[in-house]
Amino acid sequence: MWKQSSKGRAMYQPAITGTGVFVPPEVITNEELVESYNWHADWFNAEHAAEIAAGKVEAKEHSSAEFIFKASGIMQRHVLTRDGLMDPERMYPRFRQRSDDEPCLMAEMALKAAAEALAKAGVAATEIDLVICAASNMERAYPAVSIEIQKLLGAKGFAFDMMVGCSSATVAVQAASDMIRNGSVRKALIVSPEITTGHIEWRDRDCHFIFGDACTAVVLERAEAAQGPHFLIRSCRCATEFSNNIRNNNGFLRRNRPDGMADRRDMQFVQEGRRVFKEVVPLVSAHILGHLHDEGLEAAALSRLWLHQANKAMNDMIGRRVLGRDPRPGETPNLLQEYANTSSAGAILAFDMSSDGMEPGDLGLICSYGAGYSVGSVLLERA
Ligand code: COA
Repeated sequence: MWKQSSKGRAMYQPAITGTGVFVPPEVITNEELVESYNWHADWFNAEHAAEIAAGKVEAKEHSSAEFIFKASGIMQRHVLTRDGLMDPERMYPRFRQRSDDEPCLMAEMALKAAAEALAKAGVAATEIDLVICAASNMERAYPAVSIEIQKLLGAKGFAFDMMVGCSSATVAVQAASDMIRNGSVRKALIVSPEITTGHIEWRDRDCHFIFGDACTAVVLERAEAAQGPHFLIRSCRCATEFSNNIRNNNGFLRRNRPDGMADRRDMQFVQEGRRVFKEVVPLVSAHILGHLHDEGLEAAALSRLWLHQANKAMNDMIGRRVLGRDPRPGETPNLLQEYANTSSAGAILAFDMSSDGMEPGDLGLICSYGAGYSVGSVLLERA
C-alpha cells in the first residue's frame, strides 16, 4: 500500500482505524443551569444593590432556557462534576487537588477514550509511537500532558501537546497523518480531553450555557495495517486567521501583571458570539469548498459532513452553503442538544457517533473551527 514519492522515499496511505469517546455521566439541563444562574444573578444584585443603584455596577438579568435552545440548539451538557457549579456564590467546578504522582485529570479522561479507540483499532498501546494531546486548554505547561499519557499507556516514540482552540484535533490529524504518510511514525494516538467547564464563565449569561466536558481519541496508522473497518485519510487542510473574538487572557504571565491573581472576567472564556457566527460561517464554508475543489470533488460527492459542534443554526447554514441545498437528516450530524459544545472533541464526537451506514468508497469530511480563528478539515474515504 505504499508508493514512491518524487524523491524516491516510500509514502504510506494514512487511515483512521479507531475512535473512542469518554463523556462524563453527570448532566446539567438548561432548566437546572438557568435556575442556578438566576439564583446567582439575584444574589449578585442583592450583594451589589448600592453600586447598582449608583450606576457603578450593572445589574445581572435572568437567563432563559428557551433563549438557550433557540439560539444554540443546546438542551443539556455533560460535566465532570456539578460540585461547585450550582452554588450561586461560587459558580465554577470544584476538583480534588491531585498529587504529582497521580494521573492528572486530562490524562485520566484521555485514558478512557484511548482504551475504546485502541480496542476498536485492534492496536495495543505499546504499538503507538506518537501521542498528541490536542485540546483548547492544557492542565499545565510541563511536563507535557501527552507525555504523561504516553507513560500511562506504555506507548513508545514521542508525544507532544497541541493547542489550536476548537480545531486542535483536526490540526493534530493533519500533523499525525503527514508523519504516517512519510514514514516517520507508524501508529499515532490523538486525544482531546476537554475540561470546558473549568474555563467557561458560569456567571455570564451570554456564554454560561455553551460548553460541556468530553474527551475523544483517534488512532491513525498505515491503511495496510488496518485490522477492521477504517477510513482512508485522503487529505487534510488547516487554516488560521487571527481574531480576538474568542479569547482567554489567563496565561502564565498572570502573576506578574499589576492586578496579579485577580479574578478578572477576561481570565475565562470571552467571545463576541454574534460576530463569530457572522465571520466564521463564510470562512468555514469557503474553506470546505476550497478543500473539495483542490481534490477535484463536488460537494455532492460527500455523504457526511461532521462539523464542529458549536451552534445548530451555524452548522445548518454551513451545510446549506457547502451542499447548495438543505442538508438531509443525518447528513450534518447534530449532537448539540445532548453534549453542547465540547470544543475540539466536538467534530470527532460527531464522526464517532454517526459514521455508521457508510459503504466502501463513500466520502465524508470532518471540519472543526473556532478560536484563533482556526479551521481544520479532513477528507475521509470509507475503505
Ligand atoms: N438568556 C436570555 N437572554 C440572553 C442570554 C440568556 N442566556 N444570553 C444573551 N441573551 C440576550 C442578549 O443579552 C441579547 O439581548 P439584547 O438583544 O437585549 O442585547 C439577546 O439575548 C441576543 O444575544 P446574542 O448574544 O446576540 O444572541 P445570539 O443569537 O447571537 O446567540 C450565541 C448567542 C453565543 C449562541 C451565538 O452567537 C453563537 O453561537 N455564536 C457562535 C459561537 C461560536 O461558534 N463560537 C465558537 C466557540 S468554540
